[in-house]
Amino acid sequence: MDFKKQVVSSLQQVLPIELTAEQLTALLEIPKNDQMGDLAFPTFILAKSLHQSPVKIATDLAEKIDQSKFEKVQAVGPYLNFFLNKQQLGEQILKTVLQQQAAYGEQDLGHGGNVPIDMSSPNIAKPMSMGHLRSTVIGNSLAYLLTKVNYHPIKINHLGDWGTQFGKLITAYQKWGSEAEVKADPINKLLAYYVRFHQEDVDHPELDDEARAWFRRLEAGDPEAIKLWKWFREVSLQTFMKVYQRLHVEFDSYNGEAFYNDKMAEIVEILEKKQLLKESQGAQIVDLSKYDLNPALIKKTDGATLYITRDLAAALYRKRTYNFVQSLYVVGNEQTNHFKQLKAVLKEMGEDWADQVHHIPFGLITQGGHKLSTRAGRVILLEKVLDDAVELAQQQIEQKNPSLKNKAAVAEEVGVGAVIFHDLKNERLNNFDFNLDEVVRFEGETGPYVQYSHARAQSILRKAQALGAKPAAATANIAIAPTADTWSVLKQLNDFPMIIQRAVKEYEPSVVAKYALHLAKAFNQYYAHTRVLEQDDQLTSRLALVRSVAIVLQEALRLLGVAAPDEM
Ligand code: ARG
Repeated sequence: MDFKKQVVSSLQQVLPIELTAEQLTALLEIPKNDQMGDLAFPTFILAKSLHQSPVKIATDLAEKIDQSKFEKVQAVGPYLNFFLNKQQLGEQILKTVLQQQAAYGEQDLGHGGNVPIDMSSPNIAKPMSMGHLRSTVIGNSLAYLLTKVNYHPIKINHLGDWGTQFGKLITAYQKWGSEAEVKADPINKLLAYYVRFHQEDVDHPELDDEARAWFRRLEAGDPEAIKLWKWFREVSLQTFMKVYQRLHVEFDSYNGEAFYNDKMAEIVEILEKKQLLKESQGAQIVDLSKYDLNPALIKKTDGATLYITRDLAAALYRKRTYNFVQSLYVVGNEQTNHFKQLKAVLKEMGEDWADQVHHIPFGLITQGGHKLSTRAGRVILLEKVLDDAVELAQQQIEQKNPSLKNKAAVAEEVGVGAVIFHDLKNERLNNFDFNLDEVVRFEGETGPYVQYSHARAQSILRKAQALGAKPAAATANIAIAPTADTWSVLKQLNDFPMIIQRAVKEYEPSVVAKYALHLAKAFNQYYAHTRVLEQDDQLTSRLALVRSVAIVLQEALRLLGVAAPDEM
C-alpha cells in the first residue's frame, strides 16, 4: 500500500480548497526526525488563499482530519504531521506477503499484451561480447518483470547471421580454413580466418572481388555457399548456447537477420510506392532530414540490402506475427541513431505503431577505464568470466561454509548470479568498469550479498523449525512491535509492488537490484539487533517477518534472473 496515498486522501477530505492528488503528493515531506512523524504536510501554500496563518491552518486541519487511520495526526507549527499506525500496517504487510508468496507484487498493467524483446543478438562467427551479455541479462530480466505485470514477452535472438562479411568468411575459409579446426574451436577459428582476410586484402584487392562473388552466390541460394553459411551459423550458435545455458536464458525465437531475406522486397516496394526512396550516388536512401537524422541507406549500389532494411522487415514481421503493444530492442547505446532511423522510416511508411517501438539502450562495459576492443586485444571472454567468477565463489564458500553440501552447484549459482547481478545493479545507461573481485564479494553491493542474506533468512527458518516453532503463516497472530529496525524492513517489503511498477515503466532492472540490496541491508541490520529465535510471545511475528523477507528476496532475485540458493 502507498502510505502517501493514505495521507493524501485523508487530506483531500478536509482541505477547504481543492488540490489534486499529484499536487498534494508533491507537497508531502519526510520529516528529518522520527519524533515528527512519518510524513508531513506543510500548510504555507494555503495561507494566501485562506487568509490565515499557516499555524492556524495546521491546527484546524488536525482537529478535522480522520485520525482513525493513523497512530496520530498532530499539528506542529505550520506542519501537519502524520504518524503511521505501524503496528497495524506491519501486520497487514506481513499477512499480504505470506498469503501471496511468490505472487506478491503481481499486478495487471499489461492485460496480456504481447511484447517482443529483441535481445542478445550476437553475430555469427564472432565472439559474444560483454555488450551482448548486457543485452542478454537486461532483456531476460525485463521479460520476467513484464510477465509479473501481465504482459506477454517474446524473447527474440536477432542473430547477426547475414551480410557481406559472410562472403569474406567463405572466401577465407576456402583459402586457409579446415573443417577439423573449425570443429575444435569454431568461433575463434572463424574469427581468425576473417581477421586474416582483412590483413591479406590490403595487398590482394582481388580477394574483395572473390568475397563479393561469394556473397552474391549466397544471396542467390547457391547450395555450396548456403551449406557453409549454415554450418558457420550452427557451430557459432552451439557456442553461444553454452553461455545461455549457464545464464539460464531461453529464447522464443532465433530468427536472425537472414530470416528476413525474402521479406525485404516488400519493404522496398512500400517505400517505392510511397515515393520515399531516393537515389543518391547509385544507392537507394530514405531522406530523414525532417527528423534531423542522416538518410537511411536501404539498398547499396550493387543492390545489396542493409542492416536497417532487415530491421524494417523484422519490425513489420513482428507487428503482423505478434500484434504487439510494444516492441523492445535491448541494444547498446552506440546504435541509438540506427533505431531512431528505424522508427523514423516506419513513421514515413505510415505505420502508426512506430511509436510503440522502443530502443532500450545501455552503456559500455570498460576494463581499467578503457573501452574493450578486439583489435587492441582488450577482450573479455564471457565463458572465462563465468568460470573465474564461479572459482572465486567456490573459494569463499570454502572459507565460510566448508561443510556445505553441493558446493559445486552452489558456487555455480553464486558465481554466475554475481556476474548477472553486477550487470543489472548499474543503471542501464551508465558505463561501468568490470572488476571480477568486486563482483563476487560476499559483502557490499553484490549479488552474493543478497543471496547470502536470503540464505541467512532460510537458515533462521530451518532452525526455528528444528526448535519446534510453527511455520509462520498468513493466518498466524501477528503483532509486531515496530522498532526502527523492524519498521525499515517492513517499509521495504511494502515497497516491492511499487518497485516492480517503476522498474517496468523505466525498463530498468537496476531498480529491482538496488531494492534487493536495500532490503538485504535492512534485514541484516534487523538481524544484528534482534534475537529472532527467543522463545517469547513475539516469536511467530518475528518468524513471519523473516519468512516474508526470504520470499521477497527470492522473488526479487528471480526477476533479475539470479538464483537464490537456500544455503551457501
Ligand atoms: N547483431 C547486432 C550487434 O551485435 C545487434 C542486433 C540488435 N538487434 C537488431 N534488431 N538490430 O551489434
